[in-house]
Amino acid sequence: MSAGAKQSILNIVLVLCDTGDEAIIPSPYWVSYPEMVIMAGAKPVFLNTTDKEHFKITKESLAEVITPRTKMLFMNSPGNPTGMVYTEKELREIVSFAVEKGLYVISDEIYEKILYDGVKHVCPATFSDECYKKVITVNGFSKVYAMTGWRLGYAAGAEEIIKAATNIQDHTTSGANSITQKAGVEALKGSQESVNFMVKEFDKRRRYIVERLNKIKGVSCILPQGAFYAFPRVSDLYQRKIAGQTVANSFDLVNLLLEKAFIAFVPGAPFGSDDYIRISYATSMGNIEKGLDRFEKFLSS
Ligand SMILES: Cc1ncc(COP(=O)(O)O)c(C=O)c1O
Repeated sequence: MSAGAKQSILNIVLVLCDTGDEAIIPSPYWVSYPEMVIMAGAKPVFLNTTDKEHFKITKESLAEVITPRTKMLFMNSPGNPTGMVYTEKELREIVSFAVEKGLYVISDEIYEKILYDGVKHVCPATFSDECYKKVITVNGFSKVYAMTGWRLGYAAGAEEIIKAATNIQDHTTSGANSITQKAGVEALKGSQESVNFMVKEFDKRRRYIVERLNKIKGVSCILPQGAFYAFPRVSDLYQRKIAGQTVANSFDLVNLLLEKAFIAFVPGAPFGSDDYIRISYATSMGNIEKGLDRFEKFLSS
């Protein structure tokens, strides 16, 4: 147990990676992965994907970036920032191949229960005995139970890895807050009604957002199957003059939208993909409607 999934991931990266090692990160990625790899003295190696292939890597694309220095692979399904979800077949093929090549795999499953369209979650550590030994499963309470501020996460994996991670944590934060742990047990054992309710709400918001985004000229968005983010492509708006300013990249666009239209988006660049911006729909339908109205109006003016 740790103070959020974030701490568990850092602990594991510090255990597994040394100076000169390489860690493969499918891109777009959650912003903290590369920073953690760098903190361990290792090198992040990005495996780029786009909306055209639904932001998914394959066994073949993975094979191209593995070197003798590769130590580990990050997998995050459902994913932040794209909401992409791998099928069991896809995940099995990628993770089994990585393990066969001697890599460790951090499987960040923090959005495990936020899934749409009847998609089922699968845990790669269950794929085989070898996967059980080499996959470190990470999860937490911030997303599914909206307990972000409580700071509670966990990692499960081979005993020697978890023991080493525990040693690191002993000398940093000691342990996870005990009161929070009690609350976490309650979240897991209690009624899951709130989770089902929120997933239904998110589902409505996701469809609404994507439908409206795809009607805006210069914007296109694939339908996410998990998590609570939409990741529209906006690069067709670049190199155009908007409100008297030339927009060159995702930072320019989100700054302009914040300052002139009062809407908060997150630029795609820190997630590794400057052609996109990220929208979180962990906010009310009212806010979403208002935000999209402003976005539409601003671009059409
Ligand atoms: C993919 C992913 N992993 C881990 C985390 C960290 O979660 P926690 O609040 O449990 O540290 C986040 C939070 O944004 C995330 O999106």
